[in-house]
Amino acid sequence: MKVRTTVEPMRAAARVARLGGLRVGLVPTMGALHEGHLSLVRAAKAQCEAVVVSIFVNPLQFGPNEDLAKYPRTFERDCELLRAEDVDFVFAPPVEEIYPEKLSTYVTVEGLSDRLCGRSRPGHFRGVTTVVAKLFNIVQPHMAFFGQKDAAQVAIIRRMVRDLNFAVEIIACPIVREPDGLAMSSRNAYLKPQERKSALVLHRALQAIEEGFRQGERRAKALTESGKQMIVEEPGVELDYLEIVDPDSLEAVEMVSRTALAAVGAFVGTTRLIDNVLLDPE
Ligand code: PAJ
Repeated sequence: MKVRTTVEPMRAAARVARLGGLRVGLVPTMGALHEGHLSLVRAAKAQCEAVVVSIFVNPLQFGPNEDLAKYPRTFERDCELLRAEDVDFVFAPPVEEIYPEKLSTYVTVEGLSDRLCGRSRPGHFRGVTTVVAKLFNIVQPHMAFFGQKDAAQVAIIRRMVRDLNFAVEIIACPIVREPDGLAMSSRNAYLKPQERKSALVLHRALQAIEEGFRQGERRAKALTESGKQMIVEEPGVELDYLEIVDPDSLEAVEMVSRTALAAVGAFVGTTRLIDNVLLDPE
């Protein structure tokens, strides 16, 4: 496994792989790796002969009052985990390498970036799409792997790829959960023991929606109502949104007549967590 910390050597290594006929897969991450990230790495290894994992805590996607400074950084351990997965390249640039000067150019996916998390995190998705566009330009992968855990991110990146003709296939991988159902997240490390218990309410609320859906309820408002109630009643948890939306446009749906995304975002103590589930009428 080779570690690259600067742009040109990473670009050159990916080019060599591509010209050698290898299928290049990119897994963008912010590190503090867990089984969720590793599931993307395994999907990439299964489909690509040269796998690049980027580790970059991207300042551009953090708001001024968010957790950029305390975001967990576990580089040595991350490298061990990636070596065990037989990853070919780790791209771990310092901030100055990706943002040597203030940017004049950003990538914004309009509309979608203001929905779900984007509503309470202005500029967040612009930060995500800008850095992902830069990573795509540096590595030029055939395929890039993202987690369905961040369903809005997947929709926004797919739209960016479509609108800007990136020659990269986006693969979305299923959510990996802890045994009790909590979606794995680097931010779970922030949770105190009591908060860790309270955090389960996100998954329970989504399960309640799934159950209502299974029993035939199709009205979004009726489906989300009891889930919202569960979250509001959970001490120490503050609901940001619980919505049923179209998985591509992220626009709210009133009736679930085709596949829809039930997505939740909430603060557990000071930790922001998200989760979601797909509702499929078929
Ligand atoms: P990060 O939060 O590190 O996540 C990296 C990738 O892992 C994302 O595609 C995310 O959806 C996926 N992932 C995280 N938890 C998961 C889980 N429990 N199951 C399945 N996949 C999971 O998302 C980002 O970083 C950044 O926004 C990034 C795309 C790297 C741009 O900076």
